[in-house]
Amino acid sequence: MRNAKWKAATRAAFALTGVGALAAGMAMLLPGTASAGTTLGASATEKGRYFGTAVAANRLSDGAYTTILNREFNSVTPENEMKIDATEPQQGQFSYSSAERIVSHARSQGMSVRGHTLAWHSQQPGWMQNMSGSALRQAMLNHVTQVATHFRGQIVTWDVVNEAFADGSSGARRDSNLQRTGNDWIEAAFRAARAADPGAKLCYNDYNTDNWTHAKTQAVYNMVRDFKSRGVPIDCVGFQSHFNNDSPYVSNYRTTLSSFAALGVDVQVTELDIQGASATTYRSVVEDCLAVARCNGITVWGIRDSDSWRASQTPLLFNSNGSKKPAYDAVLAALNNGTTPTDPPTDPPTDPPTDPPTTPPPGQGGCTATVSVNQWTGGFVATVKVTAGSSAINGWTVGIALPSGATVTNAWNANRSGNTGSTSWTNVAYNGQVGAGQATEWGFQANGTAGTLSPACSAR
Ligand code: G3I
Repeated sequence: MRNAKWKAATRAAFALTGVGALAAGMAMLLPGTASAGTTLGASATEKGRYFGTAVAANRLSDGAYTTILNREFNSVTPENEMKIDATEPQQGQFSYSSAERIVSHARSQGMSVRGHTLAWHSQQPGWMQNMSGSALRQAMLNHVTQVATHFRGQIVTWDVVNEAFADGSSGARRDSNLQRTGNDWIEAAFRAARAADPGAKLCYNDYNTDNWTHAKTQAVYNMVRDFKSRGVPIDCVGFQSHFNNDSPYVSNYRTTLSSFAALGVDVQVTELDIQGASATTYRSVVEDCLAVARCNGITVWGIRDSDSWRASQTPLLFNSNGSKKPAYDAVLAALNNGTTPTDPPTDPPTDPPTDPPTTPPPGQGGCTATVSVNQWTGGFVATVKVTAGSSAINGWTVGIALPSGATVTNAWNANRSGNTGSTSWTNVAYNGQVGAGQATEWGFQANGTAGTLSPACSAR
């Protein structure tokens, strides 16, 4: 049974392109034992998820901010720095310094990065706002291609298209200059993003898509179903989840997540904040995500209330002075007590891995490591699973010999020594402690061909 689940989850994970899908699959394999994680990132990792936050580049010089960021989170989303007005302020002139500051910080801390966002009706620079028709279509596609190419290998997931559907009961696309270039602008953006960065998972991201009965939710669902049926390269759907009195959390949120997941995409909570930060509501959101195998991560839209775009609603997990709120405790408890989901992905595998992993026999103490590879022409993503033997471990080191021509470009949830030939990897702060028989995952992306990788694990 366990092997069957392992194979199903692994095959489904490899049908996608990134580590998150595999992590979600892994979550189905691990026993649902209570864990002892003491940070959001560590506890989410134990459930095969990431826990992220929006980050503003200009706050990275605030020591209190970065202390919480580095301690609690293992994924970041640039809050504004990868938007169109920031990255292409003049047509054809790209500006990446603020975004790179965040990517660099994330990399130094072993955090993964969600890219936000390549195509959007809002926060367009003036030159784009004034464009229309085929010139705008070309400019949009060039933007997607240039930015995704620039960050290729450094972004685990891109929000390719953001907020393309109208509010209200119409179920229609939102009117915008991009929409007026033709209804196929969204799929064109996804195809351009896939071509530019084949290793990134590609998401559609929107708000007010939480309530399963709402027209907007159904309209996005129908688009994703259509995309999957026609082979448009979409891997995931982001649910912003800005909950407030006008747009509250609803109990069918879990149904929404699981219904989208059943289309064969990952689902992610991408911009979570809750007016008043009800601990009960935060807990429900986490439990809903944990209940859906393909819900592979949660991102809150800021760290402290004072960092929020809606600061007066005090919607986040930390007070403005940096102290943990009851909502924080509720989220951590939900992550630690969460049961592992049992609903397997329904998407049949379409793209089997080139190097299927095998489950290691539990060792006596120490650790074992297995690697699975998603290879495409010119590059690959390697997802590595470190499993503790019969005793808990306090840290791990994994050696991997890369074949000639393979060069690591990006890594997450591990510290790296070397990017070609003999590489050595050690745990980051939040994933060194692994219980007996338990596992943690990390990964890297590289140029070249993986061939057969044989990781060697040693424990501390
Ligand atoms: O940095 C300038 C500052 O120099 C200037 O003095 C000030 C004057 O207004 O503006 C500052 O820029 C603001 C920027 O946030 C940084 O604080 C912009 O005006 C303001 O428009 C911008 O708001 C952002 C908003 O997106 C814009 O649409 C929020 O920070 C950001 O949290 C928010 O994020 C969006 C997601 O991208 C998509 N989903 C909804 C979410 C919330 O609106």
